[in-house]
Amino acid sequence: MVIELKAASCIVEDRQILREINWTANPGEHWAIVGLNGSGKTTLLNLINGYAPLSSGEMRVLGRLYGAYDWRRLRKSIGFISSSLQEKFYSGETAGEIVLSGIFSTIGLYDEPRKKDLARAYAVLEGFKCAHLAGQRYASLSQGEKQKVLIARALVSSPKLLIMDEPCGGLDIFAREEFLSGIHALGTNSSPALVYVTHHIEEILPIFTHVLLLKAGNIHSAGETGSILTAKNLSSFFGMPVGLRWRRGRAWLEIK
Ligand SMILES: Nc1ncnc2c1ncn2[C@@H]1O[C@H](COP(=O)(O)OP(=O)(O)OP(=O)(O)O)[C@@H](O)[C@H]1O
Ligand SMILES: [Mg+2]
Repeated sequence: MVIELKAASCIVEDRQILREINWTANPGEHWAIVGLNGSGKTTLLNLINGYAPLSSGEMRVLGRLYGAYDWRRLRKSIGFISSSLQEKFYSGETAGEIVLSGIFSTIGLYDEPRKKDLARAYAVLEGFKCAHLAGQRYASLSQGEKQKVLIARALVSSPKLLIMDEPCGGLDIFAREEFLSGIHALGTNSSPALVYVTHHIEEILPIFTHVLLLKAGNIHSAGETGSILTAKNLSSFFGMPVGLRWRRGRAWLEIK
C-alpha cells in the first residue's frame, strides 16, 4: 500500500481535527482530495508526513508502520509541496539552492552538494523549463515560478509519493494550465504516486483515478473518480445543489 489509515484520528490542542479516518491508497492510484476550508486536508497531509500527531488508530505509509519506523528517514521518499513549507524558506536562497536542498530533505542547504547532485538539480529544473532561474533569489520569483521550483525540489530525490497541497494557489489561468500539464506528464509516467489537494474540481485531471471528499474531519466519500464526481454526490457533499459539466475528462462545477 502507498497509504493506509485505519481509524486514524488527529487531536491538536484538545481539538479533534481528523476523526477515525479509514483510507487506503494503492499502488497505481493517484488521489485528489477536496474539502472546504478547515475540513482537515492540510492536517491529513501533515499526518502522513509525520508533522501532525496520530492520536489514535494506525497509519502505514509506503509500507512502514507509524511508530515503528523513523519518519525522518521515510520523508526522503516523500515529496511534499505546501504553502506552509514555502513560508519556511529563507528569502535569500536561490532557486537552485532550494532544489538542491530537496536531495538532503532539509529546509536550507547544510551539506556540501556533490557534482552529480548539482547535475541532477539542473536536469529537474530544466524539465520544468526553469533552469534559467537557478541563480535567482527565491523571494524574487513569481508565484508560478515558485511552484515550479518547489515541485523540482520535491522531485529531485525521486520520491515514491508526491503530496501537493493546493499547488495552483495564486497562479493565473495560463500558469495553472502549464503547471497542470506538468502534473499530467508526471502522472502518466506511472511514478511517483500522487496525492493532490485542491478546492477546484476542474484541477482534477483524468490521471487522478480516485477522489476523497473530506468534510469536518470525516470522509464524506472516497473512491473512483467517476463515482465520486457526480452532481448528486457533490450536492450532498456541499449541502447545496450543484451541477457538473465534463470537458476533455475534467469536471467543471456550477452552482445551481
Ligand atoms: N496546530 C493547530 N492547532 C489548533 N488547531 C489547528 C491546528 N492545525 C489545524 N487546526 C485546525 O484544524 C482545522 C483543519 O485545519 P486544516 O488546515 O487541516 O484545514 P484545511 O482543510 O487544509 O483548510 P484550507 O482549505 O483552508 O487549507 C481548522 O479548523 C484549523 O483551525
Ligand atoms: Mg489547507
